[in-house]
Amino acid sequence: MNFLSLIESKREGQTLAPELIEYFVRDLTAGKIPDYQMAAMLMAIYFRGLDTAETRALTLAMRDSGDVLKFPKDQRPLVDKHSTGGIGDKVSLPLAPLLACLGFRVPMISGRGLGITGGTLDKLDSIPGFKTLLPAGKIVGQIQKVGCVICGQTDRMVPADKKIYALRDVSGTVPCIPLITASILSKKLAESLDALVLDVKFGCAAFMQTKADARKLAKAMVALGNECGVNTRAMLTDMNTPLGRAAGNWLEVKESVACLEPIPCSRRRESAHSFSKSGQRGLTSAAAEINDLRELVLDCAAHLLVQTHRAKTLAAARKQAEDCLNSGAPRKKWDEMIVAQGADLKAFNQKLALDHTAPAVVELKAEKPGFVAKCDARLIGEVIRDFGGGRLTKESGINYDVGIDRLAKPGEAVRKNSVLARIHAADQSQANSACTRLRTAFEISAKPPPPRLVAEIIVSSR
Ligand code: URA
Repeated sequence: MNFLSLIESKREGQTLAPELIEYFVRDLTAGKIPDYQMAAMLMAIYFRGLDTAETRALTLAMRDSGDVLKFPKDQRPLVDKHSTGGIGDKVSLPLAPLLACLGFRVPMISGRGLGITGGTLDKLDSIPGFKTLLPAGKIVGQIQKVGCVICGQTDRMVPADKKIYALRDVSGTVPCIPLITASILSKKLAESLDALVLDVKFGCAAFMQTKADARKLAKAMVALGNECGVNTRAMLTDMNTPLGRAAGNWLEVKESVACLEPIPCSRRRESAHSFSKSGQRGLTSAAAEINDLRELVLDCAAHLLVQTHRAKTLAAARKQAEDCLNSGAPRKKWDEMIVAQGADLKAFNQKLALDHTAPAVVELKAEKPGFVAKCDARLIGEVIRDFGGGRLTKESGINYDVGIDRLAKPGEAVRKNSVLARIHAADQSQANSACTRLRTAFEISAKPPPPRLVAEIIVSSR
């Protein structure tokens, strides 16, 4: 194959035949294409695009560049969720054990964070003893036994994506819908799924800043996922505000565990906007306080129940998922999952009982009464990254203890001196300077803004 002529064809806007795409992905994986030529091809694709057939060929060739997980035949459908990522987005953590309890098998192959967006594996690394890197045999074995696993990609899974993503990262070709589609779906298709739900974020802290761009990406992924035999749906969700009330690796694990705690019947329909005379928010149950997280977890589960014909309607599916979460079984499944992946449960529970693990904790308080109108996810993400809770480069180390919790969310009523956020920092001066920076992340207004989490559901591209 003359790769130079393929680069030139794409540069001129021509369509590449599927067999040529398969061929160059094979050569790339075998180390036969130099980085400078592949980077040139990626730039040609960035400007000229790929049509549906080309994107499909690239996705399948990338999937087949390494091992595809193989599972024994079983009644339980194989399902997963993928999020394009955001601040405080910890949905995978409570969702995996919930889905396992709903009778699914969940091969949740996840990634690490880069920049302001946290990574599921980084969060899990904060659990004492937990192993995120498992061989393929162990991944399959755990799924068959426990029902779920959350781990990293093995070296032998989708190696072409590793190479292409590394080159995109340094060649300015990350924001390209066909390349993003192929990258995400090649990894999901290597899990041999029956159904996939995508959470495509839009907003100031999202990969796709506008809803229109998020919709374009969601439609491309939904169309291709379905064409490749995986029942695929997408939700477009807001990422102008962090998800839940905590951001930062260990704090997000704590919040995920709280989300799995059953909510007592009497509290299930309480409003998240009430507060007591002391100015504290009225809800005392940790699970009841993190409603947007819980809502999104339940929505993801409900869609997968419908997609796999386990429920006829979304309303029935929501009820099934909610009942399961409130049964307490997913909380027990969480323990089973982390123990199966090497966690020291005693050390984990001791850590969970601590109010904080960071050396310095400072509260940011409201300067006036009103309603929270803005809680800026990008600024919050930047502060946590600068604390060392995220990565500036792939090689950066991570501080698992830093972050922010007790976030006041848009729509909530606050009094003067109500807590808007609690800052967990490596030392007092870091905490104080973050407090000053974070003041601008919040806006308090006289009227509450309209609530919105799941903005749009995309079931097919048409
Ligand atoms: N996540 C991926 O895995 N790949 C992309 O290209 C973008 C986000």
